Amino acid sequence: MKKVGIAGVGEYLPKNVLTNADLEKMVDTSDEWITTRTGIKERRIAAKNEACSDLAINAAKDALKDAGLKPQDVELIIVATVTPDSAFPSVSCLVQHAIGASEAACFDVSAACAGFIYALVTAQQFIAGGTYKNALVIGSEVLSSVTDWKDRNTCVLFGDGAGAAVLKPVTSGGIISTYLHGNGSLGHLLTIPAGGSRMPAGQNTIDKRLHYIQMAGNELFKVAVNVMAEAAVKVLADVGLSVKDVDCFIPHQANLRIISAVAKKIGLEEHKIYLNITRYGNMSSASTATAFCEAAREGKIKKGDIVLLDAFGAGLVWGACVIKW
Ligand SMILES: CC(C)(COP(=O)(O)OP(=O)(O)OC[C@H]1O[C@@H](n2cnc3c(N)ncnc32)[C@H](O)[C@@H]1OP(=O)(O)O)[C@@H](O)C(=O)NCCC(=O)NCCS
Repeated sequence: MKKVGIAGVGEYLPKNVLTNADLEKMVDTSDEWITTRTGIKERRIAAKNEACSDLAINAAKDALKDAGLKPQDVELIIVATVTPDSAFPSVSCLVQHAIGASEAACFDVSAACAGFIYALVTAQQFIAGGTYKNALVIGSEVLSSVTDWKDRNTCVLFGDGAGAAVLKPVTSGGIISTYLHGNGSLGHLLTIPAGGSRMPAGQNTIDKRLHYIQMAGNELFKVAVNVMAEAAVKVLADVGLSVKDVDCFIPHQANLRIISAVAKKIGLEEHKIYLNITRYGNMSSASTATAFCEAAREGKIKKGDIVLLDAFGAGLVWGACVIKW
């Protein structure tokens, strides 16, 4: 099996900024409540003419440039998303066409907020096994399109964005440990009930606002802390590492209090955590993807560092991976 590492990273954030002050004018909330309960100050919102693939294409171009890889040389494109432009064609096919990666295989992965880690691990398998020589992995979401802007319990949490990484074989380091898990029995805690084959779109589903995210926030909070902590410890232990060995922790950015609770539970020092939740909110698969990109670009990850990615989301699913930079 080949070792697989990160050859480049990229991101794209829509220009429109929605602040907590803006939300105060839309629902019965306050900057103080949102800041203390979630850590979020503002989030990006895609323009009317921007869909998931538009964000993904920009992040993809940025990552390919960073990796010095030509689009026509890309062999595999995986997009992690729960907000595709439409049920089909897949976002990965739209990206392939737009960037001119005519030789690439393409598919999307549905693992919600853990999607970027699921997609990274999937791409790693294809390269490690020798099927492909490289892969472009993207987490892209337009959560604003499935957010109920009348529901203060959820609308303050989410934002839009995309992050990407290029994977290639390496001679040492790279992705050294991975862990994926799920528990479908808790799927009801976070859903978009309508718009699929169970409840196709109709006037009734629209009237009942069933095309938007529904969430049991309190229950999810507890599960998130437990499974992210467990995943972190397990993925490190699998390669003989402990939390003390981690140089940079890149968690899913759902809630600052969840991240702090995970860090406390596993004994990780706060200064090792990379955060972009304050600026972007929860962007599902794009959260870990953009945080990874920004941590690398801001010099928060240095050669030889142990980087821990850890995410949790609807399904429920969760996953972690350790990268030696
Ligand atoms: C959603 C979340 C921020 C709510 O925080 P919380 O501390 O659990 O708050 P509660 O749900 O207990 O609500 C407390 C009160 O604030 C109110 N409230 C909810 N949203 C509010 C808002 N935006 N502004 C003001 N008040 C709000 C509630 O109505 C409730 O009022 P009540 O006590 O009168 O009923 C938190 O539970 C969370 O982040 N959960 C995890 C969500 C998550 O991770 N989702 C994605 C997974 S990938």
